[in-house]
Amino acid sequence: MIPATALTWRRLRLPGGSVAIPSRADQPGGELDQELRLLMRTLGRQPDAPLLEVAAWDAGLSIAAADAGWSDDGMLVPLNAGASESCQAGAGAWTLLPLDELLPAEANFAVVRASYWLGRAGAEWVVRAAARALPVGGLLALLGDRARGVESLRRRLPPIVGPIIDRAVGEHRRLYLFEKQVEDPPPQQFAWTSTQRIAGREFTLCQHPTLFSPARVDPATALLAENLPDRDGRWLDLGCGSGALTVAAARQDRTLTAVDWSYVAVETTGRTLAANGLEAEVRLADGAPTGEQPFDVILCYPPFHVGPRVDHGPAARLIRAAGACLAPDGELRVVLTSAQSPRDLLQPSFREITPVASAHGAQVFSCRQPTTARGRRR
Ligand SMILES: C[S@@+](CC[C@H](N)C(=O)[O-])C[C@H]1O[C@@H](n2cnc3c(N)ncnc32)[C@H](O)[C@@H]1O
Repeated sequence: MIPATALTWRRLRLPGGSVAIPSRADQPGGELDQELRLLMRTLGRQPDAPLLEVAAWDAGLSIAAADAGWSDDGMLVPLNAGASESCQAGAGAWTLLPLDELLPAEANFAVVRASYWLGRAGAEWVVRAAARALPVGGLLALLGDRARGVESLRRRLPPIVGPIIDRAVGEHRRLYLFEKQVEDPPPQQFAWTSTQRIAGREFTLCQHPTLFSPARVDPATALLAENLPDRDGRWLDLGCGSGALTVAAARQDRTLTAVDWSYVAVETTGRTLAANGLEAEVRLADGAPTGEQPFDVILCYPPFHVGPRVDHGPAARLIRAAGACLAPDGELRVVLTSAQSPRDLLQPSFREITPVASAHGAQVFSCRQPTTARGRRR
């Protein structure tokens, strides 16, 4: 379990007054408030319900809609468990939906606030998911920062969604209103699987546009995979992404668990394992899994930001969570990039920290003796 992150409330000025939006401290929803303001200012009248936001980071849209007196028939589709918690805190009567339960033609008006940190392929994938949920004639509002790629995204969308029927500008943000006309768009150009050499062995890696390093194995991931401890026991891949470290760690004498808070990561790691004929328990978890026997080895490449800016809070929380579920003689094997400080991230949580390898600006550490040791023996 990850140490609790408090909900914070931020105020947002809207045409009808000011609203308060709750969200977890590690969620980047506030970065998309200008998009929300532009949407509410532009749409004078209530769009046809049901309303939908895909990749919702918090419940800002449902709160703004309630403030404007719109229908409370709406759905929020968060991409990870942290975003879910933020959405839940303010969703009111709106429903929280897992991505895979979003049905075709289920909404009449869809909103995508295209966060550039999802990347080009990730943002396109989110728009496609939102468009699938509309009937022909339904409307999709794409919002984004003009300096952060929304223009190139909207240029790619007419063959996938349909024509742009309205547009608006404000606060350096852009709004494009598309009418869905395309029922059967061409598939997204994306390498969903590839063969990758990881730690000297070839694996089939399944990938997803919304996951970390969607087009290749990140050099820091590769470095950690090349520097795994040579021991058996219970292993945890904490923040497994597409499963590159999970498959690299798989061995007959190890019991493997892989967790991530991203719904898509859990599914993708499962597919990566299956594609290589390997087995592990793969689970959704916000931080380390709860109620488990302690782990002998935990692997982690912690996130350096969850949103637009480098923020060490989420990584520090993940590393603390790792310390809390290690066996007394267990080890966290972690890789940090040059943007991450071992002093700030590792020292508060571990007494014994040993550098193991470094390359391409990344460094692998072995961390033992957590300061939060629970001293449980098997
Ligand atoms: C830098 S990526 C590493 C992914 C993968 N291990 C790799 O090396 O390619 C960090 C991963 O941590 C996950 N993550 C971030 N915060 C998390 C949390 N609180 N609980 C579980 N997973 C989290 C992200 O979804 C992401 O997949």
